[in-house]
Amino acid sequence: MAAVTHDHLWRHFTPAGAGRIVIERAEGCHIWDSEGNRYLDALSALYCVNIGYGPWPEIAEAAKRQLDELPFFTNWVGFATPTSLALADRVTELVPIDVGRIFFVGGGSEAIESALKIARQYHRLRGEPTRYKFVSRRSAYHGVTMGALSINGSPALRSQFEPLLPGCLRAPMPYRYRCPYCAEKPECTLRCADEIDAIVENEGPETVAAVILEPVQNSAGSIVPPPGYFERVREICDEHGLLLVADEVICGFGRVGDWFGSTRYGIRPDVMTLAKGITSAYAPLGAVVAAPQVIEPFFSDAKTAFTHGITFGGHPLSCAIGLANLEIMEREDLVGRSQRLGPELRERCERLLVEHPMVGDVRGDGYFYSLELVKDKETKETFTPTERDDLIKGFLTPRARELGVYMRFDDRGETCAQFAPPLVAGPEEFDEMVGVLRQVLDEAWERLGLGG
Ligand SMILES: Cc1ncc(COP(=O)(O)O)c(C=O)c1O
Repeated sequence: MAAVTHDHLWRHFTPAGAGRIVIERAEGCHIWDSEGNRYLDALSALYCVNIGYGPWPEIAEAAKRQLDELPFFTNWVGFATPTSLALADRVTELVPIDVGRIFFVGGGSEAIESALKIARQYHRLRGEPTRYKFVSRRSAYHGVTMGALSINGSPALRSQFEPLLPGCLRAPMPYRYRCPYCAEKPECTLRCADEIDAIVENEGPETVAAVILEPVQNSAGSIVPPPGYFERVREICDEHGLLLVADEVICGFGRVGDWFGSTRYGIRPDVMTLAKGITSAYAPLGAVVAAPQVIEPFFSDAKTAFTHGITFGGHPLSCAIGLANLEIMEREDLVGRSQRLGPELRERCERLLVEHPMVGDVRGDGYFYSLELVKDKETKETFTPTERDDLIKGFLTPRARELGVYMRFDDRGETCAQFAPPLVAGPEEFDEMVGVLRQVLDEAWERLGLGG
């Protein structure tokens, strides 16, 4: 390809002064930039290249077959394509809930946007038009379109775009390390789940449409649900007539050691939102899985429709690639691998927890871990905003990259180092990524002048 000499590309979430890294090619768990540098991708790009970069010739073959046969047709106004039908069937077999229908979209934000609209129209069709509010969790990330953004838990992401949707309420996370209710108690008291009940009661249950939660919450650092948490949330939803939406955009397709977070933690959602791993990001695709009880009011009258649609939703190319991706995941038993080898990644992270003064907590499951970074393990003292800026953007991220590992240092909650490698990664890659993290933390500790 011709050398790029100018820059008209507006990169996402990128400060104006940020340098530019052009990723040109990839293989297995590795990516190469235009300068010829090789990096271990310890984040599956953005928690999405679940099968790794291959090469997997069957994906290219499926894409070519589809483009030759039918490059595009729509899923609107009565139409379907063989691949969108086939992928809906395939996903139905995999998810741990009974499926009414699956609504395909272009990605995660559109899946959330569509789930919010399904919830609102569902209640209207059932004669409860006052139910328009949503409960999500603090710090949670659910995407950037205006509806999805409205339920985000991060004020920094929302502030430039307000006013957003009214009636978006936020519950505390099950964040045991710093939980205001039970961090000092021997066990989680599930007060964080009870808070959802309190919020709904306070608002008036007849005004609330749905509760939207990730099985393991990414933002704030791989927040794993404590035992009993989702059972309690289900109870609250049932008691108040709310839909429970499991946002599986990251957790789905093997990330947390099972096909879905809902499978892993026995969650019984009414609606699931999927994206990322559904195609392992080889093509854009998202989906909303709706249980039979959710679609019932939409399909009980021949004239009723879900009044929503997206041109590229269920694009045949993406669906063909999705089918090939799921075949690879099954044939190579990548979900089993995430379950079997995930504990080896955990073990390495936990060794760092024991041995490194800067690692205060390790959380996660499967191929998805966060290490919360602190200044003082005893007091759990965290970094000042300036330290966080200097540390994360100024040092940790570029230094890890210099040492050949692409990973994330997240500061949407407290500062966390994050790993979410492709499911084809194994002990060798775990050693490299955790080894590089140890080195950059050693160096950061020195720079902070905390080394005693
Ligand atoms: C849990 C969750 N939901 C929704 C989204 C939005 O997905 P997308 O970026 O594909 O729009 C993301 C993106 O990272 C996510 O992590």
